[in-house]
Order: sequence, then C-alpha cells, then structure tokens
Amino acid sequence: MNIILTGDRPTGKLHIGHYVGSLRERLNLQNQGDYEKMFIMIADTQALTDNFDNPTKVRENVIEVMLDYLSIGLDPKKVTFFIQSKVSALPELTMYYMNLVTLSRVLRNPTIKSEISLRGYDKDKSVPFGFVNYPISQAADITAFKANIIPVGDDQLPMIEQTREIVRSFNNIYGETLIEPKAHLSDNEVCYRLPGIDGKAKMSKSLNNCIYLSDTEEELKRKVMMMYTDPTHLKVTDPGHVEGNIVFTYLDAFCSDEHFKKYYQEFNNLSELKKQYEKGGIGDMAIKKFLFNILNELLTPIRERRKKYQQNIKYLFDILENGQKEANKYANETLNSVKNAIGINYNEEFLNQQIIKYQQ
Ligand code: TRP
Repeated sequence: MNIILTGDRPTGKLHIGHYVGSLRERLNLQNQGDYEKMFIMIADTQALTDNFDNPTKVRENVIEVMLDYLSIGLDPKKVTFFIQSKVSALPELTMYYMNLVTLSRVLRNPTIKSEISLRGYDKDKSVPFGFVNYPISQAADITAFKANIIPVGDDQLPMIEQTREIVRSFNNIYGETLIEPKAHLSDNEVCYRLPGIDGKAKMSKSLNNCIYLSDTEEELKRKVMMMYTDPTHLKVTDPGHVEGNIVFTYLDAFCSDEHFKKYYQEFNNLSELKKQYEKGGIGDMAIKKFLFNILNELLTPIRERRKKYQQNIKYLFDILENGQKEANKYANETLNSVKNAIGINYNEEFLNQQIIKYQQ
C-alpha cells in the first residue's frame, strides 16, 4: 500500500505555481484515495537552513501554509499534517545518513548548485553546513515514513535521487531496511515550473512575480492585466506569438475545454484559440479576460475557505498536534529499525552477549 509524503518550506504564502506544480497533484491523490497514509510536512527545519537569521518569518508562515493547505481542499481526515521540527527522529536519522554521502556528491546536486550561486555563496568558504546538508535531511524526511510516492515539483528531483542513493547505500551496508521512493510529477510539463507574471523563469516570492492563492479578486485582475504577452503583437489584427507568451503558458496549465463553454464560446478548445491568435484578430485583452475568469473560478472557493479557517486558528493547531503524534509513531518505528540494522540498539541480546564475554 502506498505511503505518500511531501512538504513545503514555510517561507511565504503558497502561489499558483505551487498549485499546478504539486498541490493539485496532492488533491488528485487524496481524491483517488489509493494509499495507506498521506503525510504533508511543513518543513520549518529545512526553511531555517537559509533563514536561520529570520526565525520569525519561518514561524509565522507555518500558519499561512497550513491555511493554504486547508483552503485548497486538502482534508485533515485524509491527510496527516505535521511540523518537521516536532519529529525528532528526523535529525537523528540525518546523522546516520550523513556518513553515506560525500561532500562532493552534495555539491554536485544541481538544485544545491543553483541555490548556492543564487544566494551568492562562495561554495567552499561561505556556504553554511546546514545548507548543503539539507538534501540529506530531506532523505530522512522521506524514509522516516517509508514513503514511496513523493509529489513534488521538478526542482526536487535531485533530492529524490539523492534519497534513493542513500537508501541503496544504507540497505547495502546494513541490510534491507529502507524503501526507495519515487517522485510523482504532474503529467502536464508546463506545470513543472510555472513562470512568473513578468515572464521570468520561475514564479518566486523574491522576484515579486507571484499570483498567490490568497490574492483578492482585485489583485488577481491587476496581475493578470499586467502579464507579459507578445511584444510584437501591437494591433489586434497583427499575428501573435504563442511561444513565450505567458498568458498562453498559464492557459496551458489551467484551462480545460469546459472553460471555453463557460467563458469563451467562440472557440471549442485551446488549440483553436492559439491558431486564431497566431493568424491575428485576437486582442491581448480578450485572452487576459479569459485567463482571469479561469483563475478567479479556481481562487474564489479557496479565498472563501481561507476566510473561514482564519477565524479558527486553534483548529489548525489541533490538526498539527494530532498529526505530530501520528508522524512520530511512524518515524520512531523507522528510527528503531535503522538503529537495529546498524547494530546500535544495545538491547537485551547485546547485554547478554557482553555479560558472557566478560565472564570468560
Ligand atoms: N525541499 C522542499 C521544498 O523546498 C520541501 C521538503 C522538505 C520536502 N522535505 C521534503 C519535499 C520531503 C518533499 C519531501 O519545497
């Protein structure tokens, strides 16, 4: 039976890039129900690896992220939510896994590499130890729950690969103990990395180019209207380009034929609209209005649920507290089997052996 685990760093509110990249897949998995357990972890410890000087930000965003989860319809009856730092088996497991990974292997991790340069670290000198260690601690997050399915965005693939290597190495040295996980990606490639509204490679808080799940209707409208389209498409009659046109990228990620029936009856589907746009005769205003309607339909119930949950923060805490108990049960069990496999359990059998040894 499947065990699903994933998580997010609590460093900001979640945006629609998170939604198509991973949250929508979690909802699908939840609705399919084909699992023994689904864990969603708020990765505060990992968030501290590059925010250790701003714990307030991390702490406060735990609540924001939890509000986002419940608002999109993740159901605490079907999903176990917990905070990473509440499960002390995770750093313990990390300690044992650290022995199985070389420093040069970690520095070859493509995500780590790009994050090191993004943050302006000089890799040998100024990168904090905790930062380069996070792929290893992520392997602990995954293996602690014996998770086999990890719904993530494609930037996390190197972390899953690192986890698989650690699992193989551990099982080789100490005997079959851990489960090799698989990443679960969206089947629509556009969703892997939704660009920001400015057309930049990735939607990200630091680039200030996000549409948040909690944006109001007015904010949403303003952001869609300022979206980057096709700079050569000046007059409505001009032929337009679809490639690199962010409005179409978003339509690829969010729109279905149903949306045409509701909001754009002139066309049956996206490929018809694209063809016409390329020929000319379709204004950017029209496609932006269409996109706005689609996104607003998605975000309206999310906003409403968020309002409701904001009135009951205590409920969020209760969910996390229950989840933490469940998470600790699973993780402690794995920690035990890891210690058993390594042979540092110091159990009764060991004690008896030692008694005999010293009697002779
Ligand atoms: N690295 C993930 C992110 O930045 C968060 C995360 C931490 C995670 N532990 C995990 C994701 C385990 C999947 C599985 O978004």
